[in-house]
Amino acid sequence: MTAPATLFRPFTRLVKIIILGREFEVPENNPLLRCLQYLAPEPVSYGRFCWNEDCQYCRVSYDLGDGTPTRTAISCKLMVQEGIRVKEVTTEIKYCLRTLKLDK
Ligand code: FES
Repeated sequence: MTAPATLFRPFTRLVKIIILGREFEVPENNPLLRCLQYLAPEPVSYGRFCWNEDCQYCRVSYDLGDGTPTRTAISCKLMVQEGIRVKEVTTEIKYCLRTLKLDK
């Protein structure tokens, strides 16, 4: 019998990110949507995400700290980075992260 395949790409540490003003630690070397799944496993797993750059339900706006430009991206494609600040999320992501009790 083999061990079940992990959802996550290999990582050795967690990185700090900010989601709608709150700090979390998530696995490095993974797409942001996978990191959101790390924080809210069941809701994100049952979310309406294609995981394939098609549905756009995973769109976010973010920056990389004070003085950096705000960008938009699809989080199933965007690799997480230390210090990334997610500033806006879609209704689908917000619903999936409801257990995190984010303000917005
Ligand atoms: S999950 Fe569908 S575009 Fe990212």
